[in-house]
Amino acid sequence: PRLWLIVPAAGIGQRMGAEQPKQYLRIDERFILDITLSRLMDSAPFAGCMVPLHPADRWWPDTEARSDSRIQTCTGGSERACSVLAALRALAEQSDDQDWVLVHDAARPCVHTADLANLIDSVYEHPVGGLLASPVADTLKRAGAGELPEVESTLDRRGLWRALTPQMFRYRLLVDALEAALDAGVEVTDESSAVEFSGNMPVLVEGRPDNIKITVPADLALANFILGQF
Ligand code: C5P
Repeated sequence: PRLWLIVPAAGIGQRMGAEQPKQYLRIDERFILDITLSRLMDSAPFAGCMVPLHPADRWWPDTEARSDSRIQTCTGGSERACSVLAALRALAEQSDDQDWVLVHDAARPCVHTADLANLIDSVYEHPVGGLLASPVADTLKRAGAGELPEVESTLDRRGLWRALTPQMFRYRLLVDALEAALDAGVEVTDESSAVEFSGNMPVLVEGRPDNIKITVPADLALANFILGQF
């Protein structure tokens, strides 16, 4: 089976409060999306890459990725899962059911190439797939209702992991799982949750916790620092 890469970049990055979506903010003068794409494309033998973009995207023409012939774009959807499904459909003609698809957030430029290689090695023989994840370090509270909620309970953090990306699944299994989950109206915040909803259990592959998703302004400085350590 071949490996395909999908990098959803159709979000508008509302929580960032910036003028342009977060994947088009710059670190060291490069778009975050370009940093993410070049790190991944240079680190594994992908057959190709599909990047779903917002219908009103006006920054893609200014990317470095635009001139990489291995990278194609399509129109994304209103939610992350819809964008990923649109990308999968755009790859339908080129891919086989048993091919592997890696999905990685555009907003995670700090992914380590060793983690990418480890994910591919660990999951390649698995029937379902798997994802990078990191054991939870903080103590987790469940909040009650109200503006100043009281603690309802403390979760047992043993066995709890934070889901990261890339997430790696068989092409057909992922298409079917996303379609079913979206049809059923369940909340799909990552590919794994859709796959789990279909009754298939992916494996967790431990990845570095500094593979952060840029979400709020402070994350930009943190990502800049992390990238400087590589
Ligand atoms: O908003 P969130 O941080 O969950 O976004 C994660 C990734 O999914 C980002 O790279 C964003 O551009 C992408 N996304 C998308 N289509 C959407 C919403 C988010 O491709 N409708």
